[in-house]
Amino acid sequence: MLSGGVGISNSGDARLSPHVFAAVKDLAYRTAGIDLQIGKQEMVAARLWKRARALGYASAEEYFGAVQRDHGGELELDLIDALTTNFTSFFREPAHFEFLKSTILPKLRTRSNFTIWTAASSTGEEPYSIAVTLLEELGAETGRLAKIRASDISTKVLKRAEAGVYPEERFQRLSQDWRRRYLLRGTGSREGEFRFRPEVRELIRFERINLMEPLSADGPFPLIFLRNIMIYFDRPTQEKVIAALTAKLEPGGYLFIGHSESLNGLSHRLEHVQVAVYRKQGELKAGNN
Ligand SMILES: C[S@@+](CC[C@H](N)C(=O)[O-])C[C@H]1O[C@@H](n2cnc3c(N)ncnc32)[C@H](O)[C@@H]1O
Repeated sequence: MLSGGVGISNSGDARLSPHVFAAVKDLAYRTAGIDLQIGKQEMVAARLWKRARALGYASAEEYFGAVQRDHGGELELDLIDALTTNFTSFFREPAHFEFLKSTILPKLRTRSNFTIWTAASSTGEEPYSIAVTLLEELGAETGRLAKIRASDISTKVLKRAEAGVYPEERFQRLSQDWRRRYLLRGTGSREGEFRFRPEVRELIRFERINLMEPLSADGPFPLIFLRNIMIYFDRPTQEKVIAALTAKLEPGGYLFIGHSESLNGLSHRLEHVQVAVYRKQGELKAGNN
């Protein structure tokens, strides 16, 4: 029995006692910066119960007890996964890809090389959208010039992203011609699935990075995508993450956040450029200067 007890029924009526909810909330905040508001209690209970059943635990209580003993292991990661939403799509919030083409790439293409970082890349739709944008703009030079670093806290989504295989319906809004250029069609048992061509996949390096942990020494980057993740964080965590990523931007480098997110009311050192686009002070360097 967990300290404080737990009020979860095995029949699917998955209510959590306030004590257990508080323990889940504490673990999510400490490990991933995720701020589970009181109103999320039912959602949390339902997701815990779902994972408990999927992993063969007799109750959510037993499952959460195992997670607590797991300190930083797979079970803890699995719970964090269950508590976050990985929703994403190809060319989500298309204004960012237009801005990349019209404003950022003209400078970057004159360099000898550059790396773009997507710091909450989920199942890969975002980094593949960046990769295709680069290929469309830079053509045969792309492989020599550009790299994408795609990271997420979740090893599960990273594995799916790295495989680069998606069911056909994910590409519904993209033309047949687009599909022919960038995808390979699955056959046999892979019928109905598409995989990105090697020249697209080769541009991306996938890596697990928890934005709550100290960041490695690489960078700085001319552009960081940090889209649709700040919704999980409370204000102090948002400020901490924005400060850490600002330090990872080149002078004049850009930060993209989700269109429903904003840095209003946060303390930060970035300049607002347009909706969901921010820039670090200074001039983004072109090549040879
Ligand atoms: C809703 S998805 C956003 C995907 C993509 N950026 C987009 O806008 O379509 C949010 C992602 O943030 C990741 N995430 C949550 N907490 C994180 C943390 N502390 N460090 C890194 N990634 C985190 C989740 O695993 C999830 O894949």
